[in-house]
Amino acid sequence: MSDTAREEIHVPAASRAYDVICGRGILGELGERVRGLVGGTTVLIVSDSHVWPLYGERVADSLRSAGFAINIFVFAAGEAQKNLQTYGTCLEVMAQSGLTRDDVVVALGGGVVGDLAGFAAATYMRGITVVQVPTSLLAMVDSSVGGKTAVDLQGGKNLAGAFLQPALVMEDVDTLATLSPALLQDAFGEIIKHGVLAGPDLFNAVARDPVTRAVAGASDCTALDFGRMVSLVAENVRVKRDVVVADERERGLRQTLNLGHTIGHAIEAASHYALGHGSCVAAGLAILSKGATALGLTPAPVTRAIVRCIDAYGLPTTTNVPAEAIIARLRADKKRHGSTVNAVIVRFLGEVEVVPMDVDRFAELVRAGLAA
Ligand SMILES: NC(=O)c1ccc[n+]([C@@H]2O[C@H](COP(=O)([O-])OP(=O)(O)OC[C@H]3O[C@@H](n4cnc5c(N)ncnc54)[C@H](O)[C@@H]3O)[C@@H](O)[C@H]2O)c1
Repeated sequence: MSDTAREEIHVPAASRAYDVICGRGILGELGERVRGLVGGTTVLIVSDSHVWPLYGERVADSLRSAGFAINIFVFAAGEAQKNLQTYGTCLEVMAQSGLTRDDVVVALGGGVVGDLAGFAAATYMRGITVVQVPTSLLAMVDSSVGGKTAVDLQGGKNLAGAFLQPALVMEDVDTLATLSPALLQDAFGEIIKHGVLAGPDLFNAVARDPVTRAVAGASDCTALDFGRMVSLVAENVRVKRDVVVADERERGLRQTLNLGHTIGHAIEAASHYALGHGSCVAAGLAILSKGATALGLTPAPVTRAIVRCIDAYGLPTTTNVPAEAIIARLRADKKRHGSTVNAVIVRFLGEVEVVPMDVDRFAELVRAGLAA
């Protein structure tokens, strides 16, 4: 993987085509870019209490210079705020700001801000333009691209949501300098998953590249190799782009992005969200692969490569959540899906398949994966 100053990735989604701009120090270009996209006069910047003090003024200045009137909605950082109450307040602020259908919401922050601001934009006046400005590695490689927006309900994560493709995604990797190293490392759960989906080239680049590995182990994000981050992030955006463009509304192929997530979500819930999402996905992917090998579905060398890679990034390859707790969650989910689970099975690196599997058979896979 080489160093690049900037990459622009076009996402030709059926409902709305857009560009993802990935580069260094590009926050200042936001205003001009947005000006070229919409006819409106007003922007609502949605951000959280960690990100706004760091990057808010830079983003607001850029938008102001491009002639926009700026309104701001900043909420307390954290997943706990991705709820109906914050969403409702955001909608009220949009109305008070006089936003019309020609105006824009700019989501400045991690996946929580992106999901919440995106859902508010999807529903305000039946849908207005949203621009994503992701500042966490997870949001850059995953949540800001593809148009899924949501808030959590007491009944579960992301249960209220909508699809709304952004009009633009501006990814300034320099903002990663202020991210906590633990969050940076956690995002590699999704990056390794993307490698498995994409095939040996990206997988091996992630698995073997010492610079990339050093990134995940960084104790201080200000020392990151930012040029390398541009290419790494852009590669991941391309993987996600290719899947979501083929299946925007998750009717088929997009389900492959859930690789490792069925088991990962169960671990996440059982650990009461103490363990990061990427770490849970990594553990889910490792357990799934080991279990699928035991059942003769995934070749053993493929599973070994996946587990070795996850381990090399310091992410978990198993869990101490008991098998029965994971299986109980699957059975609860069965109410929603009938008697089968859509298991995403790795055939080879770059070749995964959605296999409808009886819940009892999937439970067998989980037990085998945890025992291996
Ligand atoms: N829509 C999708 O397709 C999709 C995909 C994956 C995950 N998600 C969602 O994304 C969320 C997780 O995203 P996340 O990990 O970014 O969480 P997050 O938004 O909570 O960000 C993590 C923490 O990092 C802080 N932060 C973000 N950028 C920073 C920066 N540059 N400097 C300093 N601090 C910074 C935030 O304030 C927060 O405290 C979850 O709610 C998940 O459901 C959505």
